[in-house]
Amino acid sequence: MTLRHFLSLDDLDADGIRRVIDNSIALKRKPPKHPPLAGRTLAMLFEKASTRTRVSFEAGMTQLGGHALFLSPQDTQIGRGEPVEDTARVISRMVDAVMIRNHSHETLERFAAYSSVPVINGLTDRLHPCQLLADLQTFQEHRGDIAGKTVAWIGDGNNMCHSYLLAARLLGFDLRIATPEGYGPNPQILKTCSERAVICDDAPQAADGADLVVTDVWASMGDEDDREVRLADFANFQVNKALMSWAKDDALFMHCLPAHRGEEVSAEVIDGPNSVVWDEAENRLHAQKALLLDLLTD
Ligand code: CP
Ligand code: NVA
Repeated sequence: MTLRHFLSLDDLDADGIRRVIDNSIALKRKPPKHPPLAGRTLAMLFEKASTRTRVSFEAGMTQLGGHALFLSPQDTQIGRGEPVEDTARVISRMVDAVMIRNHSHETLERFAAYSSVPVINGLTDRLHPCQLLADLQTFQEHRGDIAGKTVAWIGDGNNMCHSYLLAARLLGFDLRIATPEGYGPNPQILKTCSERAVICDDAPQAADGADLVVTDVWASMGDEDDREVRLADFANFQVNKALMSWAKDDALFMHCLPAHRGEEVSAEVIDGPNSVVWDEAENRLHAQKALLLDLLTD
């Protein structure tokens, strides 16, 4: 098999994303009869906390007949400074795939360059592509094809916002982004997706007529020191009932979770009828399984 990594949605491209989502929906309906990953091992390297990513990959590997290994810097030589290139060469000689959640996207790319097995991005400071597979699946299940639809991104121009930018370009939906000044997305990523993305003046302008409204925490992992400043800077960017009233009546609300009710989203929106966050979280499991099968089997 050709070695393929999943560091970014671009690694799958549009056809690959649609294929993985369709397989994920099929796996959700009907598990495979014979465990397709029997005897296979996934190493999971976590430099940051996780609930959904860890549990979905670990449970997913079990359900496919394989095994997942949880590795943290505290328990491995990574935390004591073993070079990433050495770690990649060693681990990839022992397992069938590696999932990494780390701070620096550049470090992930260095690991992948030295890995002899597929490497999956479980979130970096730049991108969170696995989450997008689940979000896109969730939209498809509730509303059909996302092509031509309008999505509003409200809040921080962070790893999730960047991933939405790439998804908009690849799958052909329009992305309206509203962030406080100084918290916009990476200009290079924005530029490559500019055919499908616009920066709005404020949150209502982004939400106006949207089919889907998405937000994320105001202080991502690694930004905690700025939390108080961010709470003040993001005050006009909460997704609440008033903001949702700008979107279509049947607009969906998504959030990758974990969420902070009363900060980036009000309780009545995240716990309300337009919210699909629990389907979105569950779909991490199905999408992860479909992704693993796509990378590891013919
Ligand atoms: N959405 C997401 O990636 O959640 P975790 O940080 O819990 O893995
Ligand atoms: N933007 C958030 C996503 C968490 C799943 C973070 O990076 O912490």
